[in-house]
Amino acid sequence: MDVARIRDQIPGLQHGVYFNTGGFGQPPVSVNGAIADSYQQLLSGSVSTFDWYTEMERAASEMPATIAGFFGAETEEIALSMSTGEGYGMVLGGLRWQPGDEVIITNEEHPVPLQAAEGLADREGAVIKVVDIDQDTDLILDRLEQAITPRTRLFCFSHVTTDTGTRLPAREICALARERGILTLWDGCQAIGQFPVDLHDMGCDFYATNCYKWMLSPMGTGFLFVRKGAQQVLKPLRRPHEPDGTARQYETGTPACMLYQGLAASLDFMTGIGGPEAIAAEAGRKAESLRSRFDAIPGVRVTSSRHAETQSGIVAFAIEGMEGNEVSEALRNRWQITQRATHINKPTGVRISVAFYTSDSELNTLVEAITTLAGETA
Ligand SMILES: Cc1ncc(COP(=O)(O)O)c(C=O)c1O
Repeated sequence: MDVARIRDQIPGLQHGVYFNTGGFGQPPVSVNGAIADSYQQLLSGSVSTFDWYTEMERAASEMPATIAGFFGAETEEIALSMSTGEGYGMVLGGLRWQPGDEVIITNEEHPVPLQAAEGLADREGAVIKVVDIDQDTDLILDRLEQAITPRTRLFCFSHVTTDTGTRLPAREICALARERGILTLWDGCQAIGQFPVDLHDMGCDFYATNCYKWMLSPMGTGFLFVRKGAQQVLKPLRRPHEPDGTARQYETGTPACMLYQGLAASLDFMTGIGGPEAIAAEAGRKAESLRSRFDAIPGVRVTSSRHAETQSGIVAFAIEGMEGNEVSEALRNRWQITQRATHINKPTGVRISVAFYTSDSELNTLVEAITTLAGETA
């Protein structure tokens, strides 16, 4: 992969050192251009609002097929949504609940899905059970098995967790859930764009995500996958004018059509640079090299998984004697390195998002900075 050439097409990578794709992925010019062109047409008055809207609706109506093709789903299983949180709302609000129904989540959920589950508990009297994840897939599955009771209705899990970047054994978890008659809802926003995701192969019922992180698409784009069979149990939040028997019945309003022009451009871009497999291989190599370079620095501890099958491009670490916020601020202020502190788990540390577009020089700057900071606190 010609990373230097790719980076030339990404304006947000031209200044400083960027390790925050898990917060916001830097889109290429083609994505920015697609959004700007379509919105500019409207704002400049060069087309009538009616014609613009008709064209945007037509373009948006093609998106479910494009998204489905990228993620191993069928067109009828994709609803457009603004965010992960909106997708969670569609699912948690559209299922029927009895007080005492149990929902299992992990101890590493992002505030958005966590608060959605808590809201369900407040509204419906559902019981939220938290299972601690681990780096070892067998241990995760054992803990889940133990947490299941006859009242368990739903698993709500991050496919890749936001702080330590732990990649959950999604296929095995979905198989376990299916065996026990439990539905699965996944938060995919730290997973899609990092590695290939095939939703049918994974076997989940619902998969909610935004696309502004590893997919390099604009904020305001996302989708909800609803497996065909699961559409029988999920009610739409509004009564559609014309029920069309597809997942689009779950959409809650008008999608941000011009932003989806950006999503279409980002999918083209990703395909053009080799597709999800090539992207995963490139980022995986770089993340692996960073983990071993961190291991060699005295006082630095990698807190992300050591097990290959639960690793991702998110590499979290802690420096002995320093809070995560202090490390994060020092990296930003002294070396112009964009990243963020971890806040869900202890010890607090810093989350580095290693993407396919990360350069060797960025990795070198980071390792030098961490070596300096760890040396200063020793
Ligand atoms: C795992 C995870 N879920 C959800 C979100 C945010 O969700 P939304 O798309 O609703 O903004 C983030 C953002 O950082 C995240 O990392």
